[in-house]
Amino acid sequence: MGRLVIVSNRVPAVRERAQPAGGLAVALRDAVQGQECLWFGWSGQQIPDDEGEDRRVSIDTVDNVTYATVDLTKSEYNGFYEGYSNGILWPLCHYRAGLMSYSRQDRHTYHAVNTMFAQKLAPLLKSDDLIWVHDYHLFPLGLALREQGIKCRIGFFLHIPFPPWSLMRALPGAEKLMRSLRAYDVMGVQTEDDARNVNEGFSVVGVPAQARVFPIGIDPESFQQQASSGLDSPEVQKLEKSLRGLPLIIGVDRMDYSKGLPERFRAYEVFLRKYPEYRGKVIYLQITPVSRGSVPEYKVLREELDGVVGHINGTYGDFDWVPIRYLTHPVPRELLAPFFRLSHAALVTPLRDGMNLVAKEYVAAQDAKDPGVLILSRFAGAAPEMEDALLVNPHDADEVADALHKSLSMSLSERQLRWKRLKPDVWRVTAGSWARSFITALAEVRSE
Ligand code: ADP
Ligand code: F6P
Repeated sequence: MGRLVIVSNRVPAVRERAQPAGGLAVALRDAVQGQECLWFGWSGQQIPDDEGEDRRVSIDTVDNVTYATVDLTKSEYNGFYEGYSNGILWPLCHYRAGLMSYSRQDRHTYHAVNTMFAQKLAPLLKSDDLIWVHDYHLFPLGLALREQGIKCRIGFFLHIPFPPWSLMRALPGAEKLMRSLRAYDVMGVQTEDDARNVNEGFSVVGVPAQARVFPIGIDPESFQQQASSGLDSPEVQKLEKSLRGLPLIIGVDRMDYSKGLPERFRAYEVFLRKYPEYRGKVIYLQITPVSRGSVPEYKVLREELDGVVGHINGTYGDFDWVPIRYLTHPVPRELLAPFFRLSHAALVTPLRDGMNLVAKEYVAAQDAKDPGVLILSRFAGAAPEMEDALLVNPHDADEVADALHKSLSMSLSERQLRWKRLKPDVWRVTAGSWARSFITALAEVRSE
């Protein structure tokens, strides 16, 4: 098999390269062990517009992986990353066309950055490379590489959902975008629904290609290990002490409107009204680091969340109890894993999510003898694989409130049974097996 070339907008930061922590980096490290690999993408740096012409690809090699990164100019960052990727494609792909703020200029910048990526990457490629492009920032990259004369096998994996054509067609140029995907030899998505939707789009524009399902997983062994070994750390002990023996409900999500946070807080308010016996008798910790903070819709969300949390804490709190402990900064994985293990229930209630790795991490972190309960949205990509969670409609505050009550009053034997049934799938489809199956499909493409 040739060299693996990974292309993604975000590339692991320099400090993460020797020991990657996040899902994709860990998955790919597992899959490419011992194999030569090139990882190309954005450096994470912005430069002044007039320095774009002279920018160079910066190269850094760690073990068998060479990282090749380019800076984005300020205008490219605004138009490509904030504007088109996260202000247009993200809401649309999450079924929120109403939040899309379309601009023709952003579309132009998005395509220009994809072309620039292709121009910078092409000279680094070898004829037998396998190229694996990731996510919605780079839909047109395959075609841009073909236009540079690249004949290697190129695969694309979409980490986020793909909407039905009736929604997707709201995007000006949607047909062109669908046709451009023909440049890929393999098109991978998270769920059957996403595959159906992509294939519907293909059939509208007469492209014979077929999307295939490759659900992503985590590294459950290492997460489980972190969860149990981390229990002794001073921070975890501090959290445990602060619980004063009360059950902990936990939520961990980037601050994104797709995660259903205002809806979740309102459901928690319904829970406190409907089941007043829990007032002062439960701790809810919500960890929500700010994400894409300069995109207008994310600013609006932050203000809304500040308001809802303030309202709930002011209305239901007491001098010795805060209904929602709300953090807007990230917490290291070494702490998240034992926090999950300490908790009695997790709220994972996105309105729409590609997969949702937090749901799988929560299951991996549990103690078989005393597992917590996963309350999971039916609209997370993980839901079809996790039917033994308490599945809820995140729009239905009463249903979420009842699930909270059920989780807190559930017998130990039911918690154990549900967890025992959830565990095998989390261990079966891992980050490594996901990456390997995609790469194998891509490697086999010409021989088929
Ligand atoms: P998304 O890719 O939309 O952010 P996922 O749930 O699929 O959602 O993946 C999020 C990843 O980021 C998980 O590995 C999770 O542990 C991590 N993460 C989410 N929230 C936090 C947080 N508050 N602090 C640290 N890591 C987080
Ligand atoms: O899972 C979707 C995704 O956009 C990933 O591609 C990305 O790494 C993650 O969410 C965080 O988003 P961002 O790179 O915009 O901070």
